[in-house]
Amino acid sequence: MIYSRRDILKIGAAAGLASTAPSNLFAQSNSAVPLTTREASLQLAPPDYPQTAIWGFDGSMPGPVIRVRQGGRVTRRLVNELPQATSIHWHGVRIDNAMDGVAGLTQEAVAPGASFDIDFVAPDAGTYWYHAHNRSMEQVARGLYGALVVEEPEGRDVDRDEVLILDDWLLNPDTAQIDPDFTSRHDRSHAGRVGNFIATNGQYGHSLDVRRHERLRLRLVNAANARIFELALAGLEGWVMALDGMPLEAPQPVFETVLLGPGQRADLLVDVVAEQGETVYLVRVDNGEGFVQSAFPVIGASSGARRDAPQALPPNANMALPDLSQARRVRLNMGGGAMGRLQSAQFNGERRTFRQLVDANQFWAFNDVIGMTDDPLANLARDEPVRLEIVNDTSFPHAMHLHGMHFREIAADGTLGPLRDTILTFGGETREIAFSAHNPGDWLFHCHMLSHAASGMMTWVRVT
Ligand code: C2O
Ligand code: CU
Repeated sequence: MIYSRRDILKIGAAAGLASTAPSNLFAQSNSAVPLTTREASLQLAPPDYPQTAIWGFDGSMPGPVIRVRQGGRVTRRLVNELPQATSIHWHGVRIDNAMDGVAGLTQEAVAPGASFDIDFVAPDAGTYWYHAHNRSMEQVARGLYGALVVEEPEGRDVDRDEVLILDDWLLNPDTAQIDPDFTSRHDRSHAGRVGNFIATNGQYGHSLDVRRHERLRLRLVNAANARIFELALAGLEGWVMALDGMPLEAPQPVFETVLLGPGQRADLLVDVVAEQGETVYLVRVDNGEGFVQSAFPVIGASSGARRDAPQALPPNANMALPDLSQARRVRLNMGGGAMGRLQSAQFNGERRTFRQLVDANQFWAFNDVIGMTDDPLANLARDEPVRLEIVNDTSFPHAMHLHGMHFREIAADGTLGPLRDTILTFGGETREIAFSAHNPGDWLFHCHMLSHAASGMMTWVRVT
């Protein structure tokens, strides 16, 4: 759990309360805690390699796990000690627009040496993450991210609650340093910056000791710039409880694999069903082959017996979709990239041939326009229902992330999928999502393959 009983009593006593303190007291006890972006180095690659220079929150990668109770406030002072301006985006949070952290849209980038006060309410329980949102394709690749965990009001029936952040890094194989070519033409025009070194929580050979019959909540976050993780369980019986922070209506048993595009999260409950002395695994499947993503040696037995299948997590409030029959229809046609059909597109207000776009290192267009525009993709009235059709007319997958609001996919048969904030689309697919424009502000809608975002795949919607 988040706070030890001693902490609760301490805070409770200061406020003249017994053992139950409203969540805003916890938030106040946090106020002005700095969250500092700075350079650091750590042992990312195996021990016979040198340390890797990274950029981290509080000098670590991942940054600190920030935990808050549902409805509580997150108050931090971003202090930028990097040589480059930065900002923090709180991915997946139904946040106040001014705190969304998008440099150039919702705030100025925070200059080297400057600071920015963060203060927002986390309305929904679930697994979220924070990451740099200025020059993201560089800053996220250098390590500027961490998890934000918003706890349900009631504790769940689990023995352990663990955040597992999955990432890949593009490292020089001799020096173990991060490849500094963040604008590589090849990465931009193909699948994005795909790393050659894969790890969990920035640790080579990530491992956690477990006990037989223990139940763990694994909060998986895909923080990679472009890699899609396909995950399986070995020696663990598991259920998907939530996707992109939002609980599923019914826990979904993990029979085969779980696919996580960049930016996406999955909360799993896993029961250790193997015997003491064995090791169980979170497995990464790559072209049909399994690799260890995290290992869990079974070092003992828990006191309890095997548990029953879990109940669903409580749903977050006010997530209902309005009637969609009158919904505003918006279309987003994705074009460009290598092996694509894009002949020309608008860039900086001018029509450019694909050849000219290649010279400008810009490869991707939404509705024939490259990058951000003065006018939004859609001007939405508050609470307006929206149906947004996404046509992936490219040869690559794209993970489209909408800031500030969750959506549901409308399947071909009309049924609604789970709430998500990022949808993974594959080349040639047409998908449709629906949401209620209930959160006022200017919200980015972009590909979370960060090199794609930096070379065209970025637009926004306005809710007034
Ligand atoms: Cu997780 Cu606009 O980003
Ligand atoms: Cu993309």
